[in-house]
Amino acid sequence: MSAYDIAPGVDAALAAFTLPEKLGFGAVTAPVMFSAEWEEGTWRRGILLPYGRIEVWPGSRVLQYAELVFEGLKAYKVGQSRANLFRAQDNCRRMQRSAERLAMPVVPETLFFQGIKAVTRACAPFIPARSGQSLYLRPFLYGTESGYLLRNSKSFRFMVIANPVESYATGAPTVAIERQEVRAAQGGIGTVKASANYAASLRASSRALARGHTVALWLDATEHRYIQELSGMNFFAVIDGELHTPELDGAILPGITRDSLLKLAPRLGYAVHERPMALDELLGQIGSGRCSELFACGTAAIVMPIGGLAEPDERTFRPAQTDQVAARLRTALLAVQERREPDPFGWVREVA
Ligand code: COI
Repeated sequence: MSAYDIAPGVDAALAAFTLPEKLGFGAVTAPVMFSAEWEEGTWRRGILLPYGRIEVWPGSRVLQYAELVFEGLKAYKVGQSRANLFRAQDNCRRMQRSAERLAMPVVPETLFFQGIKAVTRACAPFIPARSGQSLYLRPFLYGTESGYLLRNSKSFRFMVIANPVESYATGAPTVAIERQEVRAAQGGIGTVKASANYAASLRASSRALARGHTVALWLDATEHRYIQELSGMNFFAVIDGELHTPELDGAILPGITRDSLLKLAPRLGYAVHERPMALDELLGQIGSGRCSELFACGTAAIVMPIGGLAEPDERTFRPAQTDQVAARLRTALLAVQERREPDPFGWVREVA
């Protein structure tokens, strides 16, 4: 007997689905989703359902107080007959840390894997198979109880939805330096994947987009001096041929792709440094040529070259090269994720 239920309509939803040529990132939705509910201290049996609308009380804490944490991870099937998950256990642990920070019930590892594997298995026939493409899995957990009292919900729902995707951005976009607003401060929730962090970043990202850039570059909340991260991505600079990334300062999200690059880069001959990175110093190093390249990374973005950093007055600091070191790292990372090269860290797991 399966460990979860399968709702009527799942087979029909899967049979009706065809994978379009153009995928984008999040534009195409997989036809099934997983759901499990928590009440009175217990997780109920999960269920695989056709993808569709869900009911939420207007007064629920997820809507009123953003009681919501999520993850993003990928299943790959490039040149493979079965899907492979990349570092899914790390996503599970981070989701557990996110839930703990928001005092929500932790999704047990068995349930987390049940959900992501149920969706991955069902979607396996249409996981796109070109390099850089994948099935993006979006597990999330939210508080379903209505009420304005400032305490956690007493009921929760864990869900997994998915999207066949290609990479988040193309080319080498420019990034808007955000010198006024802040994404997260020490002691806040910046280190966990809470939707509220993304809500806080949306205005700056929308303004960045309207100005022709991709996302915002965030600075620390205390001095507005040190680089933290981009909206939804971690940040790297190549300085004197070595990799530099902001150290985890108690407000930055510890990206799993960030960590993967820090481990892979030395194997490609790059020294890596995690340290406080003052923005103005970096802009000087771009000007002098010591900083030769910038890039961002994340599950969605993979390794994304950055064309330049734009000040609010549109003065733009462009490093001499784009997508040289980034391309080497992206190739090396994708080769492990897509199982074209050995996986020295044991990051990849086949979904049976
Ligand atoms: C991810 O990379 O998984 C994220 O959650 C970032 C988001 C901008 C898509």
